Amino acid sequence: MKDQAERLRMLMGMQKKQMKIFTVTSGKGGVGKSSLALNFGIAFNRRGRRSLIIDTDFGFSNIDVMLGVRTPFDLMDVVKGRKEINEVIETGLEGVQFISGGSGVYELTKLGSAQLMGIVEKVLSLESVCDTIIFDTGAGINDNTLRLIRASDDTVLVTTPEPTSVVDAYALLKIVNEQGVRPNVSLVLNKVEDKREAVSVMDGLIRIVEKNTDIKMKKLGVISRDANMLSAVKKQVPILVSHPLCAASADINQIVGSMLNISAQERKKPGLAGFLERFISRSDMVKE
Ligand SMILES: Nc1ncnc2c1ncn2[C@@H]1O[C@H](COP(=O)(O)OP(=O)(O)OP(=O)(O)O)[C@@H](O)[C@H]1O
Ligand SMILES: [Mg+2]
Repeated sequence: MKDQAERLRMLMGMQKKQMKIFTVTSGKGGVGKSSLALNFGIAFNRRGRRSLIIDTDFGFSNIDVMLGVRTPFDLMDVVKGRKEINEVIETGLEGVQFISGGSGVYELTKLGSAQLMGIVEKVLSLESVCDTIIFDTGAGINDNTLRLIRASDDTVLVTTPEPTSVVDAYALLKIVNEQGVRPNVSLVLNKVEDKREAVSVMDGLIRIVEKNTDIKMKKLGVISRDANMLSAVKKQVPILVSHPLCAASADINQIVGSMLNISAQERKKPGLAGFLERFISRSDMVKE
């Protein structure tokens, strides 16, 4: 593990181009993380960036299903050394690239930090294929998600206005804080019916997070509840493609504009080099 960390440090010294790396996460499940991660990827591409979505909901992967792309290979093939990482990248509509986290593979749900570190090392070789990485996580917190949250330039925390979802978002940040992780968090309220009410929910959550943790969280935006989101999943076409002008698509476009403006000003080292440094910086999170 130590040797691997040293090799990563050496490799990251060789990185030239700056990547933007986001992690999309939530406390409660089913709030729209994967739908958003996918559409963020499409929106980034439309703005001239080349995005890669990495589905880290290991064993319960569904970005591939949402895109209607069958993936012959997934991260398990990389973990097992059967494939190189560039061989498991699939391309969907509008050139959006993704790596499937695999589905129905029990072993994947048990992916340890050492194995994830191995994958991250391979991500280093992806500079030629992408400049924006979006990690889609499973709901809740585990060691791997904690590492991604700590290492990313920005963590997009998704919740709905429902109290249960907001409380779970807060619980997630409490754990992150207790673990000594201080990420930049951007809050997105999804499935919103009343935008004014949504803003007050966001303000309330930000206040309580500020009061009880050392985490900095800002409002990124709200996304309307929109029935087209469901039909997009059914059609296996991202909503930005199937319904580019609907309410949720307009909201997503606005949010992605803000995401691109997110500067890594509070980070000493932005981009891939900073990501890796933060990813490997605390061996005490590796309980193997
Ligand atoms: N803005 C929205 N309006 C209406 N429905 C939405 C919206 N966003 C997401 N959904 C729907 O909510 C459901 C869950 O979405 P999604 O799978 O993206 O959530 P998730 O957070 O990734 O779930 P999980 O925690 O299981 O990974 C889907 O049926 C999706 O179509
Ligand atoms: Mg999901």
